[in-house]
Amino acid sequence: MPEPRKPLISGNWKMHHNHFEAIQTVQKLAYRLTKDDYEAVDVSVHPPFTDLRSIQTLLQSEEIPVALGAQNCHWEEKGAFTGEVAPPMLAKLDVTYVIAGHSERRELFGETDDVVNQKVRAIVKSEMTPILCVGETLEEREAGGTEDKVSGQVRAGLAGLKAEQVGAMVIAYEPIWAIGTGRTATPDDAQATCALVRATVREVAGGDAAEAVRIQYGGSVKPGNAAELMAQPDIDGALVGGASLDADDFARIVQWRH
Ligand code: G3P
Repeated sequence: MPEPRKPLISGNWKMHHNHFEAIQTVQKLAYRLTKDDYEAVDVSVHPPFTDLRSIQTLLQSEEIPVALGAQNCHWEEKGAFTGEVAPPMLAKLDVTYVIAGHSERRELFGETDDVVNQKVRAIVKSEMTPILCVGETLEEREAGGTEDKVSGQVRAGLAGLKAEQVGAMVIAYEPIWAIGTGRTATPDDAQATCALVRATVREVAGGDAAEAVRIQYGGSVKPGNAAELMAQPDIDGALVGGASLDADDFARIVQWRH
């Protein structure tokens, strides 16, 4: 029997919270979460780059078992790339998870599947865990293109990785039409696409990787809808945007079981 997958609930703060607000949010979150929560669920926060050092210090000095995450990185280890942040710099700050290919990066900053794959490989090389984001637009969904889009992004994002590297990573299915819109995929629709993601991983990296890889759902996850989404067999956690900015709401999502 394969090991059961431990859910991962991640808070993607996007471009919100300066480092004072970030510290307050994590302090409040730590106050709300219990040892039982951390045993049942892995939790990560992904603040802006400017907050990472403050949050690293807080997590370590208070021994808070929340993992530190980043929202993006460059794929090169160093060089003349003004304004960019390299994976080894994040690893040095004890960053555990790095988001790659969020739809906002793809749509607003022109990141192609190839760029996203280079980032995924660079994150793995620096011994951190990528959270590879995939998802379709409303137009693609309505035209029946969800499967092609999502499985194509998964294949491209995983190119060049070994099966055990794929099994250790995280893939987040975020339908673009559900991000920040208050419109969530139904649990059945989210499950169907997360099952497709797992089937694609099985094709490209084999059964062990497919059983081990954690698949998150993202898109208007809130305390009120987390339980039904998390109950789906192929959903192993959530990538939360807006609701992760408030420590109480985010804690209630982590505690979806009670
Ligand atoms: O990465 C998380 C995200 O894009 C979902 O955002 O605000 O709909 O929870 P939100």
